[in-house]
Amino acid sequence: MIEIQHLTKIFPVDGGEVRALDDVSLTVENGEIFGIIGMSGAGKSTLLRCLSLLERPSKGRVLIDGTDLAAMRGGELREARRRMGVVFQGYNLLMQKTVAENIAFPLKLEKGYDRAAVNARVEELLELVGLADKAKAYPAQLSGGQKQRVAIARALATNPQLLLCDEPTSALDPLTTTAMLSLLEDINRKLGVTVIIITHELSVVRRVCRCVAVIGDGRVCEQGLVDDVFEHPKSDAARLLLKGEG
Ligand SMILES: Nc1ncnc2c1ncn2[C@@H]1O[C@H](COP(=O)(O)OP(=O)(O)OP(=O)(O)O)[C@@H](O)[C@H]1O
Ligand SMILES: [Mg+2]
Repeated sequence: MIEIQHLTKIFPVDGGEVRALDDVSLTVENGEIFGIIGMSGAGKSTLLRCLSLLERPSKGRVLIDGTDLAAMRGGELREARRRMGVVFQGYNLLMQKTVAENIAFPLKLEKGYDRAAVNARVEELLELVGLADKAKAYPAQLSGGQKQRVAIARALATNPQLLLCDEPTSALDPLTTTAMLSLLEDINRKLGVTVIIITHELSVVRRVCRCVAVIGDGRVCEQGLVDDVFEHPKSDAARLLLKGEG
């Protein structure tokens, strides 16, 4: 279980501060696909960065299966990081490296992965994301959907229990979006990985998520089962998202 408790993130800026997250509390059960939805600038990517320890919260804490991330050090922290795969908004692939090298990258730091084991794992991951024929291609030679798949394969390399995806479909056409969501559902079901999807698209949440948190202006406006939240929205943020859906 992932528990976010009273998380606040303040960025100092010229002449003041930006409160990107303000007292955010959420619970995500293991094994589910959880949606975090909000308009641009709501604080979604900041939340993901705090969850994945790329950013230290200004206040509050993140507990994974009861353990406070911020209190972890050394080997324990490394292990916690390994158990978490992140797919960034905009992919963050290494452009000078091939698809296979990108996916192999996190395995370089792993114990017990010699060259043969790395190759076998990369092959397995390429198969999983449907890119077996692109091992030697460079990111610049791929479509957006293919780059997204490479980013997912790389995030899964160390067998994480949790996959965090920041806007996994925002740059994709409707058909590719459907394929991407099916892939994330497969990963959830077959590998038992908990998936957190960050998105501004209500259709994405409706299609794959059981529960959702709506964030607006750095705050959680409401959270619960997707159908409940969007059947009777209580917040302006949720109503705005419904309006955008048409
Ligand atoms: N490093 C930073 N320094 C100062 N302000 C920041 C920083 N990172 C984010 N912010 C601010 O925090 C707020 C939330 O940003 P964030 O990137 O989390 O939004 P988002 O919900 O992911 O938006 P989008 O949907 O456009 O990706 C914005 O007002 C942004 O300008
Ligand atoms: Mg973002």
